[in-house]
Amino acid sequence: MCGIIGYTGRRPAAEVLLDGLGSLEYRGYDSAGIAVAAPDGSTSVHKRVGKLSNLQTALNEAMPEGSLGIGHTRWATHGGPSDHNAHPHTDCSNEVAVVHNGIVENYLELKRELIDKGHVFQSQTDSECIPHMIEDGLAQGLSLEEALGVIAPRIKGASAVVAFSTHDPGKIVGLRLGNAGGIVVGRNDEGVFLSSDLPALLPHTRDVSYLNAGEMVVLRDEDLAFASIDGAPIVKRATHVTDSAESASKGEHEFFMHKEIHEQPDAIVNALGGRVSFDDMSVDLSELGLSDHMIHSIDRVVFLGMGTSLHAAMLGRHWMETLANIPAEYDNSSEYRYRSPILDSGTLVVSVCQSGETVDTLAAMELARDVGAPQITLCNYPGTQTTRIAGHTMPLRAGLEIGVAASKTFSSSLVALLLLSLEFAIRRGKIDDERRRSIVSEIAKLPDTLGSMLTDESIYQNIARKYGHCSDFLFLGRGVGFPMAMEGALKLKEISYIHAEGYPAGEMKHGPISLIDDEMPVVAIAPMDSLRDKMQSNMNEVRARGGNVIAIVSEGDEETANIADDVIEIPKASEVINPFLVSVPMQLIAYHIGVHRGCDIDQPRNLAKTVTVE
Ligand code: G6P
Repeated sequence: MCGIIGYTGRRPAAEVLLDGLGSLEYRGYDSAGIAVAAPDGSTSVHKRVGKLSNLQTALNEAMPEGSLGIGHTRWATHGGPSDHNAHPHTDCSNEVAVVHNGIVENYLELKRELIDKGHVFQSQTDSECIPHMIEDGLAQGLSLEEALGVIAPRIKGASAVVAFSTHDPGKIVGLRLGNAGGIVVGRNDEGVFLSSDLPALLPHTRDVSYLNAGEMVVLRDEDLAFASIDGAPIVKRATHVTDSAESASKGEHEFFMHKEIHEQPDAIVNALGGRVSFDDMSVDLSELGLSDHMIHSIDRVVFLGMGTSLHAAMLGRHWMETLANIPAEYDNSSEYRYRSPILDSGTLVVSVCQSGETVDTLAAMELARDVGAPQITLCNYPGTQTTRIAGHTMPLRAGLEIGVAASKTFSSSLVALLLLSLEFAIRRGKIDDERRRSIVSEIAKLPDTLGSMLTDESIYQNIARKYGHCSDFLFLGRGVGFPMAMEGALKLKEISYIHAEGYPAGEMKHGPISLIDDEMPVVAIAPMDSLRDKMQSNMNEVRARGGNVIAIVSEGDEETANIADDVIEIPKASEVINPFLVSVPMQLIAYHIGVHRGCDIDQPRNLAKTVTVE
């Protein structure tokens, strides 16, 4: 979950590395560090606990010289945040510098062995084993890449390792082991670049290549060479990405998350492009290459995801059932992977994973691949790991999302899942023309509708002032409102650090009702749909116990509004479309409460955007 950057070329490396780390800080912000190969042949290492700004301040006086280096932002797993535990780590002779993302599961055993051989450790991290192991390899006369190839099978667990050594100078080697920790590389006429994530590369190039598990890359003399761990050369073609570097800046917004919430109308337009025709209200997902055989032979769909993507998956289940009439279920990838799920070629697995790198989702997908289950994955970044496992990829096309808490990728995932359900419904003859036309014409209005919901945020600021001091929130919903309640609670937890629970409203009487008092606001998702009356009853039950209700209601629904203490109106829409509209208040309630409480919205404590460890 850490961020990695590497550069060798004509520019001062420290400058490139610090810029790169700036766009990677969402990956981890426990500490930051860089190591540069200095002109005198030594390794110059600089690291600071805390945010990147601490390192930048420390380097302001004297930037290290040299045109080859590596950098890291850390999300701590083994060894607390400290200067010593910050990466890069070095060997005993300070000739090898390493940055690492992932977990060396057998590090205690490796560390014991290395200490027995006389190695002295400076940190409590698992990662520090790696430079010491490389040191041993180099001492045996191996090149840096050979040394990494030799130690790779000894490292248990999935990792990305990036190293350079003044003992074998002039190159940086990147190694990807297993599913954790992607590595993406690219070049321009100023040098070659490596990173854990695309945003750090975009200011330099849009033609990038991703490493697969078990692959290495050597960056040398403005060139890139790929190989397998055993050294066999690999030819890789670069993928052209369309996201621009500008999209990685905040513009007029105080936080990336705010910008990304406001980008949702555009993200939805992009997600619809070429997939929907508003002339005849048709859906065309031929880009996915789903054969008639596959469409007709599956008898079950399993939707998988984690975090916000799991909530999108929950809605996918709902739409696949109600529109395409196919038995469907959803699961949390980290649970699914460790059960013995019933899967065969008749089960379609749909994974939602905006990053394409979430380790539990990758493992669950591998399980499905092993039994030959057809798979479709929804992903925001072409070429990432999930897209290599699934037979079919549906790109989200949301553009870069930097805020750790997902916002626009959620809306784009919903668009993709709704279109997918419609595709199955249409091709299996389960939806009549009138219903299809009516849903698609509502989808056509979505960008505009969402845009209109983002013009005035004062209602959310008022709610933040009124309830921002509370320490617990309850979010209730039914039907499609339940995943939205889960998402609303997750957003609030993530960015305001308020304890919040998302519950199916019908479950309230089985426990949560005992918590209700005037210090625990209840957000009731009660738009005009087939379950609105049931939601009204639940709202009355909350009020009867002295609770405050913040209700999300359809415009003009005074009957429901009258039961609430605070009302947020969303435009009138059908049950299928309501989740898209409800997601805006879920995001903005959390956002404005987070701002009111002075939280670091884009980099909430302990969280990371891409979870590459279990
Ligand atoms: C992390 C992020 C969430 C995201 C989840 C799943 O927890 O903080 O915003 O929803 O990972 O990410 P994925 O890349 O699998 O969609």
